[in-house]
Amino acid sequence: MDHFNYQQNDQLWAEDVPLAQLAEQYGTPLYVYSRATLERHWKAFDEAVATQPHLICYAVKANSNLGVLNVLARLGSGFDIVSQGELERVIAAGGDPAKVVFSGVGKTSAEMKRALELGIKCFNVESEPELERLNLVAEQLGVIAPISLRINPDVDAKTHPYISTGLRDNKFGIAFERAVEVYRLAHSLPHLKVVGMDCHIGSQLTEITPFIDATDRLLALVDELKAEGIAIEHLDLGGGLGVTYSDEQPPLPADYAKALLGRLENYPELELIFEPGRAIAANAGVLLTKVEFLKHTEHKNFAIVDAAMNDLIRPTLYSAWQGIVPVIPRQGEAQVYDLVGPICETGDFIGKDRSLCLAQGDLLAVRSAGAYGFVMASNYNTRARAAEVMVDGEQVHLVRERETLAQLWQLEHIVE
Ligand code: LLP
Repeated sequence: MDHFNYQQNDQLWAEDVPLAQLAEQYGTPLYVYSRATLERHWKAFDEAVATQPHLICYAVKANSNLGVLNVLARLGSGFDIVSQGELERVIAAGGDPAKVVFSGVGKTSAEMKRALELGIKCFNVESEPELERLNLVAEQLGVIAPISLRINPDVDAKTHPYISTGLRDNKFGIAFERAVEVYRLAHSLPHLKVVGMDCHIGSQLTEITPFIDATDRLLALVDELKAEGIAIEHLDLGGGLGVTYSDEQPPLPADYAKALLGRLENYPELELIFEPGRAIAANAGVLLTKVEFLKHTEHKNFAIVDAAMNDLIRPTLYSAWQGIVPVIPRQGEAQVYDLVGPICETGDFIGKDRSLCLAQGDLLAVRSAGAYGFVMASNYNTRARAAEVMVDGEQVHLVRERETLAQLWQLEHIVE
Protein backbone atom coordinates (compact mmCIF):
# COMPACT_ATOMS: atom_id res chain seq x y z
CA MET A 1 0.00 0.00 0.00
CA ASP A 2 1.18 3.51 -0.76
CA HIS A 3 -0.01 7.06 -0.25
CA PHE A 4 -0.46 8.03 -3.90
CA ASN A 5 -4.22 8.08 -4.38
CA TYR A 6 -6.90 9.81 -6.39
CA GLN A 7 -8.62 12.24 -4.05
CA GLN A 8 -10.50 15.51 -4.40
CA ASN A 9 -11.48 16.46 -7.96
CA ASP A 10 -10.33 12.97 -8.99
CA GLN A 11 -6.76 14.16 -9.06
CA LEU A 12 -3.77 12.09 -8.05
CA TRP A 13 -2.28 13.19 -4.75
CA ALA A 14 0.87 12.35 -2.82
CA GLU A 15 -0.35 12.14 0.76
CA ASP A 16 -2.10 15.51 1.30
CA VAL A 17 -0.64 17.32 -1.70
CA PRO A 18 -1.99 17.26 -5.28
CA LEU A 19 0.72 16.13 -7.68
CA ALA A 20 -0.34 18.79 -10.18
CA GLN A 21 0.61 21.42 -7.64
CA LEU A 22 4.08 19.90 -7.28
CA ALA A 23 4.57 19.84 -11.04
CA GLU A 24 3.56 23.50 -11.19
CA GLN A 25 5.91 24.47 -8.40
CA TYR A 26 8.98 22.37 -9.17
CA GLY A 27 8.61 21.56 -12.84
CA THR A 28 8.89 18.18 -14.55
CA PRO A 29 10.33 15.60 -14.75
CA LEU A 30 10.09 15.38 -10.98
CA TYR A 31 10.56 12.53 -8.54
CA VAL A 32 8.05 12.64 -5.69
CA TYR A 33 8.46 10.52 -2.57
CA SER A 34 6.00 9.87 0.24
CA ARG A 35 7.45 9.84 3.73
CA ALA A 36 4.48 7.95 5.19
CA THR A 37 4.93 5.19 2.61
CA LEU A 38 8.65 4.86 3.26
CA GLU A 39 8.02 4.64 6.98
CA ARG A 40 5.19 2.19 6.60
CA HIS A 41 7.29 -0.15 4.48
CA TRP A 42 10.29 -0.01 6.80
CA LYS A 43 8.12 -0.68 9.82
CA ALA A 44 6.47 -3.63 8.08
CA PHE A 45 9.86 -5.36 8.08
CA ASP A 46 10.80 -4.23 11.56
CA GLU A 47 7.53 -5.39 13.11
CA ALA A 48 7.43 -8.65 11.19
CA VAL A 49 10.55 -9.94 12.96
CA ALA A 50 9.97 -8.27 16.31
CA THR A 51 10.27 -11.56 18.19
CA GLN A 52 13.80 -12.23 16.93
CA PRO A 53 16.84 -10.01 17.53
CA HIS A 54 17.05 -8.13 14.24
CA LEU A 55 18.22 -5.13 12.26
CA ILE A 56 16.65 -3.76 9.09
CA CYS A 57 19.48 -2.44 6.92
CA TYR A 58 17.89 -0.46 4.09
CA ALA A 59 19.80 -1.02 0.83
CA VAL A 60 21.03 2.48 0.04
CA LYS A 61 21.50 1.73 -3.65
CA ALA A 62 17.73 1.64 -4.19
CA ASN A 63 17.37 5.33 -3.39
CA SER A 64 20.23 7.18 -1.76
CA ASN A 65 18.75 10.65 -1.51
CA LEU A 66 19.78 12.19 1.83
CA GLY A 67 16.16 13.02 2.60
CA VAL A 68 15.16 9.40 2.15
CA LEU A 69 18.08 8.11 4.22
CA ASN A 70 17.34 10.63 6.95
CA VAL A 71 13.70 9.58 7.22
CA LEU A 72 14.81 5.97 7.68
CA ALA A 73 17.68 6.84 10.03
CA ARG A 74 15.16 8.54 12.31
CA LEU A 75 13.30 5.24 12.56
CA GLY A 76 16.51 3.59 13.74
CA SER A 77 17.26 1.93 10.44
CA GLY A 78 20.54 0.29 9.63
CA PHE A 79 21.97 0.58 6.12
CA ASP A 80 23.42 -1.78 3.54
CA ILE A 81 26.06 0.05 1.50
CA VAL A 82 28.24 -0.90 -1.46
CA SER A 83 30.67 2.00 -1.69
CA GLN A 84 32.36 4.73 0.31
CA GLY A 85 30.04 7.13 -1.44
CA GLU A 86 27.02 5.41 0.05
CA LEU A 87 28.72 5.29 3.44
CA GLU A 88 29.36 9.04 3.39
CA ARG A 89 25.74 9.62 2.38
CA VAL A 90 24.54 7.59 5.36
CA ILE A 91 26.72 9.66 7.68
CA ALA A 92 25.63 12.93 6.03
CA ALA A 93 22.00 11.89 6.51
CA GLY A 94 22.46 11.20 10.22
CA GLY A 95 22.71 7.40 9.98
CA ASP A 96 24.53 5.37 12.61
CA PRO A 97 27.73 3.75 11.25
CA ALA A 98 27.43 1.04 13.91
CA LYS A 99 24.34 -0.15 12.01
CA VAL A 100 26.01 -0.28 8.59
CA VAL A 101 26.83 -3.46 6.68
CA PHE A 102 29.16 -3.13 3.71
CA SER A 103 28.42 -5.38 0.71
CA GLY A 104 30.06 -5.53 -2.71
CA VAL A 105 32.68 -7.55 -4.56
CA GLY A 106 35.27 -4.82 -5.11
CA LYS A 107 35.95 -2.90 -1.89
CA THR A 108 39.15 -0.85 -2.13
CA SER A 109 41.65 -0.46 0.71
CA ALA A 110 40.63 3.19 1.07
CA GLU A 111 36.98 2.20 1.42
CA MET A 112 37.85 -0.44 4.00
CA LYS A 113 39.94 2.05 5.96
CA ARG A 114 37.18 4.64 6.11
CA ALA A 115 34.59 2.05 7.13
CA LEU A 116 36.87 0.72 9.88
CA GLU A 117 37.54 4.24 11.16
CA LEU A 118 33.82 4.87 11.39
CA GLY A 119 33.27 1.52 13.14
CA ILE A 120 30.71 -0.14 10.89
CA LYS A 121 28.81 -3.19 12.05
CA CYS A 122 30.07 -5.67 9.49
CA PHE A 123 31.86 -6.22 6.19
CA ASN A 124 30.02 -8.67 3.95
CA VAL A 125 33.07 -10.26 2.35
CA GLU A 126 32.76 -11.88 -1.05
CA SER A 127 36.18 -13.51 -1.71
CA GLU A 128 39.39 -14.74 -0.14
CA PRO A 129 41.57 -11.93 -1.51
CA GLU A 130 39.08 -9.51 0.02
CA LEU A 131 39.60 -11.22 3.40
CA GLU A 132 43.35 -10.85 3.07
CA ARG A 133 43.08 -7.19 2.09
CA LEU A 134 40.72 -6.38 4.94
CA ASN A 135 42.97 -8.16 7.43
CA LEU A 136 45.90 -6.04 6.24
CA VAL A 137 44.01 -2.74 6.40
CA ALA A 138 42.71 -3.60 9.88
CA GLU A 139 46.23 -4.48 11.00
CA GLN A 140 47.55 -1.13 9.75
CA LEU A 141 44.87 0.65 11.77
CA GLY A 142 45.39 -1.60 14.79
CA VAL A 143 41.76 -2.73 14.86
CA ILE A 144 39.76 -5.90 14.38
CA ALA A 145 37.35 -5.96 11.43
CA PRO A 146 33.97 -7.66 11.96
CA ILE A 147 33.14 -9.87 9.00
CA SER A 148 30.44 -11.99 7.46
CA LEU A 149 30.93 -14.17 4.40
CA ARG A 150 28.47 -13.79 1.57
CA ILE A 151 27.54 -17.32 0.69
CA ASN A 152 26.24 -18.20 -2.71
CA PRO A 153 23.60 -20.80 -1.87
CA ASP A 154 23.03 -21.73 -5.52
CA VAL A 155 19.28 -21.32 -5.48
CA ASP A 156 17.28 -20.03 -8.41
CA ALA A 157 15.57 -16.79 -7.44
CA LYS A 158 13.37 -17.04 -10.55
CA THR A 159 13.77 -13.39 -11.40
CA HIS A 160 15.26 -11.43 -14.31
CA PRO A 161 18.76 -12.79 -15.11
CA TYR A 162 20.36 -9.34 -14.65
CA ILE A 163 19.11 -9.12 -11.07
CA SER A 164 19.52 -12.76 -10.07
CA THR A 165 22.59 -13.05 -7.90
CA GLY A 166 22.53 -16.35 -6.00
CA LEU A 167 23.35 -18.79 -8.77
CA ARG A 168 26.62 -20.64 -9.15
CA ASP A 169 27.79 -18.66 -12.16
CA ASN A 170 27.15 -15.20 -10.68
CA LYS A 171 30.15 -13.08 -9.68
CA PHE A 172 28.77 -12.71 -6.17
CA GLY A 173 29.67 -14.48 -2.97
CA ILE A 174 31.54 -17.62 -2.02
CA ALA A 175 30.48 -20.99 -3.36
CA PHE A 176 28.50 -22.98 -0.82
CA GLU A 177 30.87 -25.94 -1.13
CA ARG A 178 33.87 -23.80 -0.21
CA ALA A 179 32.21 -21.88 2.62
CA VAL A 180 33.64 -23.83 5.58
CA GLU A 181 37.15 -23.66 4.19
CA VAL A 182 36.92 -19.89 3.68
CA TYR A 183 35.43 -19.42 7.15
CA ARG A 184 38.44 -21.29 8.55
CA LEU A 185 40.73 -18.86 6.74
CA ALA A 186 38.77 -15.87 8.07
CA HIS A 187 38.86 -17.31 11.59
CA SER A 188 42.62 -17.72 11.37
CA LEU A 189 43.37 -14.16 10.29
CA PRO A 190 44.33 -12.15 13.39
CA HIS A 191 42.70 -8.85 12.49
CA LEU A 192 39.33 -10.27 11.52
CA LYS A 193 36.48 -11.42 13.71
CA VAL A 194 33.84 -13.67 12.21
CA VAL A 195 30.43 -12.36 13.30
CA GLY A 196 27.99 -13.26 10.57
CA MET A 197 26.87 -15.04 7.46
CA ASP A 198 24.99 -13.45 4.58
CA CYS A 199 23.48 -14.03 1.20
CA HIS A 200 21.51 -12.06 -1.35
CA ILE A 201 19.98 -14.24 -4.01
CA GLY A 202 18.41 -11.68 -6.27
CA SER A 203 15.96 -8.85 -6.55
CA GLN A 204 12.23 -8.58 -7.25
CA LEU A 205 11.51 -12.07 -5.92
CA THR A 206 7.83 -12.89 -5.85
CA GLU A 207 7.97 -16.23 -4.06
CA ILE A 208 9.03 -17.21 -0.57
CA THR A 209 10.50 -20.60 -1.44
CA PRO A 210 13.89 -19.43 -2.77
CA PHE A 211 14.43 -17.36 0.39
CA ILE A 212 13.60 -20.33 2.60
CA ASP A 213 15.77 -22.70 0.58
CA ALA A 214 18.67 -20.29 0.94
CA THR A 215 18.00 -19.92 4.68
CA ASP A 216 18.00 -23.69 5.17
CA ARG A 217 21.31 -24.00 3.41
CA LEU A 218 22.82 -21.20 5.46
CA LEU A 219 21.53 -22.56 8.77
CA ALA A 220 23.10 -25.94 8.01
CA LEU A 221 26.36 -24.11 7.57
CA VAL A 222 25.89 -22.17 10.81
CA ASP A 223 25.60 -25.54 12.59
CA GLU A 224 28.64 -26.94 10.86
CA LEU A 225 30.72 -23.92 11.83
CA LYS A 226 29.53 -24.08 15.41
CA ALA A 227 30.89 -27.62 15.61
CA GLU A 228 34.22 -26.18 14.50
CA GLY A 229 34.14 -23.50 17.17
CA ILE A 230 33.22 -20.65 14.80
CA ALA A 231 30.23 -18.78 16.20
CA ILE A 232 27.85 -16.97 13.86
CA GLU A 233 26.05 -14.13 15.65
CA HIS A 234 23.95 -12.81 12.81
CA LEU A 235 22.33 -14.12 9.68
CA ASP A 236 21.86 -11.53 6.94
CA LEU A 237 19.44 -12.68 4.26
CA GLY A 238 20.00 -9.70 1.98
CA GLY A 239 17.22 -7.89 0.20
CA GLY A 240 15.21 -8.99 -2.78
CA LEU A 241 11.59 -9.05 -1.70
CA GLY A 242 9.59 -8.01 -4.76
CA VAL A 243 6.93 -5.36 -5.14
CA THR A 244 3.78 -5.02 -7.20
CA TYR A 245 4.53 -3.18 -10.43
CA SER A 246 1.49 -4.54 -12.27
CA ASP A 247 -0.17 -7.76 -11.14
CA GLU A 248 2.67 -9.47 -9.28
CA GLN A 249 1.68 -10.71 -5.86
CA PRO A 250 4.89 -10.83 -3.85
CA PRO A 251 4.69 -12.07 -0.28
CA LEU A 252 4.21 -9.39 2.35
CA PRO A 253 7.14 -8.86 4.73
CA ALA A 254 4.94 -10.44 7.42
CA ASP A 255 4.43 -13.63 5.37
CA TYR A 256 8.09 -13.82 4.51
CA ALA A 257 9.05 -13.28 8.15
CA LYS A 258 6.58 -15.87 9.39
CA ALA A 259 8.06 -18.53 7.16
CA LEU A 260 11.55 -17.56 8.26
CA LEU A 261 10.86 -17.42 11.95
CA GLY A 262 9.57 -20.97 11.69
CA ARG A 263 13.09 -21.94 10.65
CA LEU A 264 14.74 -19.97 13.44
CA GLU A 265 13.03 -21.55 16.44
CA ASN A 266 16.24 -23.24 17.52
CA TYR A 267 18.26 -20.07 17.05
CA PRO A 268 16.69 -17.58 19.49
CA GLU A 269 19.85 -15.54 19.78
CA LEU A 270 20.74 -15.37 16.12
CA GLU A 271 20.30 -11.77 14.97
CA LEU A 272 18.40 -11.54 11.72
CA ILE A 273 19.38 -8.86 9.21
CA PHE A 274 17.44 -7.85 6.12
CA GLU A 275 18.70 -5.54 3.39
CA PRO A 276 15.49 -4.47 1.65
CA GLY A 277 15.76 -1.74 -0.93
CA ARG A 278 12.98 -2.03 -3.49
CA ALA A 279 10.33 -3.22 -1.03
CA ILE A 280 10.82 -0.05 1.01
CA ALA A 281 11.37 2.56 -1.68
CA ALA A 282 9.78 1.50 -4.99
CA ASN A 283 6.15 2.23 -4.27
CA ALA A 284 7.08 5.22 -2.12
CA GLY A 285 7.88 7.23 -5.22
CA VAL A 286 6.49 8.37 -8.55
CA LEU A 287 8.10 10.13 -11.48
CA LEU A 288 6.01 13.02 -12.74
CA THR A 289 6.30 13.83 -16.41
CA LYS A 290 4.51 16.08 -18.89
CA VAL A 291 3.26 15.24 -22.35
CA GLU A 292 5.15 17.49 -24.77
CA PHE A 293 3.60 16.25 -27.98
CA LEU A 294 1.26 13.62 -29.30
CA LYS A 295 2.36 12.10 -32.57
CA HIS A 296 0.04 9.84 -34.49
CA THR A 297 1.59 7.76 -37.25
CA GLU A 298 0.03 5.15 -39.48
CA HIS A 299 1.21 2.36 -37.21
CA LYS A 300 1.49 3.84 -33.78
CA ASN A 301 0.55 6.62 -31.47
CA PHE A 302 3.38 8.21 -29.57
CA ALA A 303 3.16 10.38 -26.51
CA ILE A 304 6.44 12.23 -26.28
CA VAL A 305 6.98 13.02 -22.63
CA ASP A 306 9.63 15.13 -20.91
CA ALA A 307 11.08 12.21 -18.90
CA ALA A 308 13.49 9.94 -20.73
CA MET A 309 15.67 6.89 -20.31
CA ASN A 310 18.25 9.08 -18.59
CA ASP A 311 15.69 9.78 -15.86
CA LEU A 312 14.31 6.25 -15.56
CA ILE A 313 16.24 3.49 -17.26
CA ARG A 314 14.42 0.43 -15.89
CA PRO A 315 11.98 0.06 -18.81
CA THR A 316 14.83 0.17 -21.32
CA LEU A 317 17.40 -1.82 -19.36
CA TYR A 318 15.26 -4.63 -17.97
CA SER A 319 12.13 -4.37 -20.11
CA ALA A 320 10.55 -3.43 -16.80
CA TRP A 321 6.88 -2.49 -16.74
CA GLN A 322 5.85 0.39 -14.51
CA GLY A 323 2.36 1.78 -14.20
CA ILE A 324 1.72 5.09 -15.95
CA VAL A 325 -1.37 7.00 -14.88
CA PRO A 326 -2.83 10.42 -15.57
CA VAL A 327 -2.50 12.96 -12.75
CA ILE A 328 -5.82 14.52 -13.79
CA PRO A 329 -7.76 11.90 -15.75
CA ARG A 330 -9.77 13.30 -18.65
CA GLN A 331 -13.01 12.03 -20.12
CA GLY A 332 -12.87 10.67 -23.62
CA GLU A 333 -11.79 7.75 -25.65
CA ALA A 334 -8.51 6.14 -24.78
CA GLN A 335 -5.92 5.38 -27.42
CA VAL A 336 -2.98 3.04 -27.29
CA TYR A 337 0.30 4.94 -26.91
CA ASP A 338 3.99 4.30 -26.66
CA LEU A 339 5.33 6.77 -24.12
CA VAL A 340 8.72 7.87 -25.32
CA GLY A 341 11.28 10.45 -24.22
CA PRO A 342 13.20 13.09 -26.16
CA ILE A 343 16.46 11.10 -26.29
CA CYS A 344 17.85 10.05 -29.64
CA GLU A 345 17.57 6.31 -29.15
CA THR A 346 14.84 3.92 -30.18
CA GLY A 347 15.20 2.36 -26.74
CA ASP A 348 14.13 5.58 -25.10
CA PHE A 349 10.76 4.63 -23.80
CA ILE A 350 9.01 4.74 -20.43
CA GLY A 351 6.13 2.47 -21.38
CA LYS A 352 4.69 0.77 -24.43
CA ASP A 353 1.16 0.00 -25.57
CA ARG A 354 -0.58 1.93 -22.84
CA SER A 355 -4.21 2.75 -23.18
CA LEU A 356 -4.65 6.39 -22.18
CA CYS A 357 -6.75 9.41 -23.03
CA LEU A 358 -4.21 12.19 -23.49
CA ALA A 359 -3.78 15.76 -24.65
CA GLN A 360 -0.66 17.82 -25.04
CA GLY A 361 0.43 19.27 -21.70
CA ASP A 362 -1.10 16.49 -19.60
CA LEU A 363 0.73 15.27 -16.54
CA LEU A 364 1.48 11.60 -16.04
CA ALA A 365 2.78 9.76 -13.00
CA VAL A 366 5.09 6.80 -13.52
CA ARG A 367 4.43 4.62 -10.53
CA SER A 368 6.82 2.50 -8.46
CA ALA A 369 9.67 4.84 -9.31
CA GLY A 370 11.04 5.32 -5.80
CA ALA A 371 13.60 2.52 -6.13
CA TYR A 372 16.26 2.28 -8.85
CA GLY A 373 14.83 5.43 -10.39
CA PHE A 374 16.77 8.61 -9.74
CA VAL A 375 19.83 6.64 -8.53
CA MET A 376 20.26 5.18 -12.00
CA ALA A 377 19.73 8.49 -13.78
CA SER A 378 22.42 9.86 -16.08
CA ASN A 379 23.13 13.02 -18.00
CA TYR A 380 22.93 11.37 -21.40
CA ASN A 381 22.07 13.86 -24.14
CA THR A 382 23.27 16.55 -21.68
CA ARG A 383 20.03 16.43 -19.81
CA ALA A 384 20.04 17.78 -16.28
CA ARG A 385 18.81 15.28 -13.74
CA ALA A 386 15.35 15.76 -12.27
CA ALA A 387 14.54 17.38 -8.95
CA GLU A 388 13.32 15.24 -6.06
CA VAL A 389 10.73 16.19 -3.44
CA MET A 390 9.53 14.46 -0.31
CA VAL A 391 5.93 14.88 0.71
CA ASP A 392 5.11 14.57 4.39
CA GLY A 393 1.40 15.09 4.99
CA GLU A 394 0.72 18.61 3.74
CA GLN A 395 4.38 19.53 3.77
CA VAL A 396 6.73 19.37 0.82
CA HIS A 397 10.51 19.25 1.10
CA LEU A 398 12.75 19.78 -1.89
CA VAL A 399 15.25 17.00 -1.16
CA ARG A 400 17.25 17.51 -4.34
CA GLU A 401 17.30 20.56 -6.54
CA ARG A 402 17.06 20.19 -10.27
CA GLU A 403 20.52 20.18 -11.77
CA THR A 404 21.49 23.26 -13.73
CA LEU A 405 23.01 22.93 -17.17
CA ALA A 406 26.21 24.68 -16.09
CA GLN A 407 26.69 22.00 -13.44
CA LEU A 408 26.81 19.38 -16.16
CA TRP A 409 30.14 20.58 -17.54
CA GLN A 410 31.60 22.27 -14.50
CA LEU A 411 34.34 19.62 -14.19
CA GLU A 412 35.27 19.78 -17.85
CA HIS A 413 37.95 21.83 -19.58
CA ILE A 414 38.60 22.86 -23.13
CA VAL A 415 42.05 22.06 -24.47
CA GLU A 416 44.65 24.80 -23.94
N1 LLP B 1 21.66 -6.39 -0.76
C1 LLP B 1 22.51 -6.61 -1.79
C2 LLP B 1 23.81 -7.23 -1.51
C3 LLP B 1 22.13 -6.26 -3.10
O1 LLP B 1 22.96 -6.50 -4.11
C4 LLP B 1 20.87 -5.67 -3.33
C5 LLP B 1 20.44 -5.29 -4.68
C6 LLP B 1 20.02 -5.44 -2.21
C7 LLP B 1 20.46 -5.83 -0.95
C8 LLP B 1 18.68 -4.83 -2.35
O2 LLP B 1 17.82 -5.60 -3.12
P1 LLP B 1 16.27 -5.22 -3.24
O3 LLP B 1 15.64 -5.40 -1.88
O4 LLP B 1 16.19 -3.81 -3.69
O5 LLP B 1 15.76 -6.17 -4.24
N2 LLP B 1 18.60 -1.99 -10.60
C9 LLP B 1 17.80 -3.21 -10.52
C10 LLP B 1 17.94 -3.87 -9.18
C11 LLP B 1 19.37 -4.22 -8.81
C12 LLP B 1 19.49 -4.84 -7.44
C13 LLP B 1 20.91 -4.99 -7.06
N3 LLP B 1 21.14 -5.47 -5.72
C14 LLP B 1 16.35 -2.87 -10.86
O6 LLP B 1 16.05 -1.70 -11.11
O7 LLP B 1 15.49 -3.75 -10.89
